[in-house]
Amino acid sequence: MNKVTVLGSLNVDTSFRIKSFPQPGETVQVKEKSNAAGGKGANQAVAAAREGAQTAFIGQIGNDSAGKFMLDSLEADHIDGTYVSQNESVGTGTANIMLDEAGQNCILVYGGANQALTDRDVQKAEPIIKNSDFIVAQFETPQAAAITAFKIAKANGVTTVLNPAPAPAKAIDPALLQLTDIIVPNELESASITGIKITDEASMIQTAAQFQKMGVPNLIITVGDKGAFYSTEAGHDLIPAYKVKAVDTTAAGDTFIGAFVSQIAPDFSNIVSAIKFAEHASSLTVQRLGAQPSIPKLEEVLVAEKESAS
Ligand code: RIB
Repeated sequence: MNKVTVLGSLNVDTSFRIKSFPQPGETVQVKEKSNAAGGKGANQAVAAAREGAQTAFIGQIGNDSAGKFMLDSLEADHIDGTYVSQNESVGTGTANIMLDEAGQNCILVYGGANQALTDRDVQKAEPIIKNSDFIVAQFETPQAAAITAFKIAKANGVTTVLNPAPAPAKAIDPALLQLTDIIVPNELESASITGIKITDEASMIQTAAQFQKMGVPNLIITVGDKGAFYSTEAGHDLIPAYKVKAVDTTAAGDTFIGAFVSQIAPDFSNIVSAIKFAEHASSLTVQRLGAQPSIPKLEEVLVAEKESAS
């Protein structure tokens, strides 16, 4: 069983189902409104835990009911929340998600306490980082916190996984890339970091070379319903996605990452089977509504794997 620590965001998501996204100045009617636990970090931790990893979380909530809701959600999935700190002056993160009839989303995120996570908070979590096989970070918490966590990880032989989502508004600190063992962007995040537009396999190979120059030896680019491209020392390939009808893509990328780290070996030797497993998991997520409520359990992913093999 992999031991995974996720450093990241905890958001209460409010989803609004609408016919199509509004134009500037337009008012649209909401067909349905719902709340659920979310946040890229928390979603990835929930996916790792549901797919069988021993999982811990480093993050920050406010002193409010939303924070309690998020802590309870972690606990319900047996995620160690010892290093989730509480901020007395800033509220818990929230996200408003517009969801159109095609299952696409637009998200407005209020970072709140997520953005107040400090190096000191991360340093306190050193014991749990040291005791992990993998640490995962994204960009809904400060880059400085991820750098501190990855430094502790690298000094202790822990594999570092960076999901550069959402696409960074300012340049990534080169130190963070140099501490990253594997980066997992989607095609837009990848292009925003390397400047290389993902159009075909040749552009993905070029991207892998560019990330290597930046100090990241291993790469997975998720390319929506086309699948995922990987590049490691052992080679590269595009692993096609499983075709399903998407009703809500929220947390699909997060499910992919959490499921992937629950299965991958630290030397990446089983990368193809770990990617296929992660694609099965996220193909189930997109068929359901909401972030964490849509993330499948291990048994469901195994059934999906079996069905696609027969
Ligand atoms: O990746 C999906 C997540 O992004 C949502 O759960 C929302 O909280 C935003 O952080």
